[in-house]
Amino acid sequence: MISHSEKETIQLAERLGKKLRKGDVIILKGDLASGKTTFTKGIGKALNIKEVINSPTFTILKIYEGDLTLFHIDAYRLENNLYDLGIEEYQPEGITVIEWPEYYEKFLPEEYLEISIVQTDEEERDILLIPHGKHYEEIVKEMEC
Ligand SMILES: Nc1ncnc2c1ncn2[C@@H]1O[C@H](COP(=O)(O)OP(=O)(O)O)[C@@H](O)[C@H]1O
Ligand SMILES: [Mg+2]
Repeated sequence: MISHSEKETIQLAERLGKKLRKGDVIILKGDLASGKTTFTKGIGKALNIKEVINSPTFTILKIYEGDLTLFHIDAYRLENNLYDLGIEEYQPEGITVIEWPEYYEKFLPEEYLEISIVQTDEEERDILLIPHGKHYEEIVKEMEC
């Protein structure tokens, strides 16, 4: 999919967010400022989260309450230190969104939805949805309609 503005990325993520259910895991790949946190804001909107979603420099995990709980992980600071946040037990109760999943690979579940964002112009982004598992294949199919 192609987004032409921050607003469009949020709208796209909101549409995806409405299709998610408890326990779903989304991983967001892309360079700095590609739009991973922006995309997470759209998911938060779908979940009716009122608090502002951001990525403070030294915070790795933030938990937001909405219609469903959102576990927002930004693994950037973990780099290659294998650090278990210990939230596996709680994840089935909410939606988990992971920025920089490259640094959290060991703790990823078997199935998840991968989203890859590439900046192609000042405000243009190529957004690729890559399902890993049948449940996520269905979500992606619905998104294509
Ligand atoms: N189409 C777009 N989608 C998302 N962000 C965009 C877009 N066009 C411009 N931007 C800007 O790019 C930046 C993305 O920042 P952010 O979402 O924090 O990225 P990341 O979390 O990947 O580092 C924001 O300043 C946003 O306004
Ligand atoms: Mg970010």
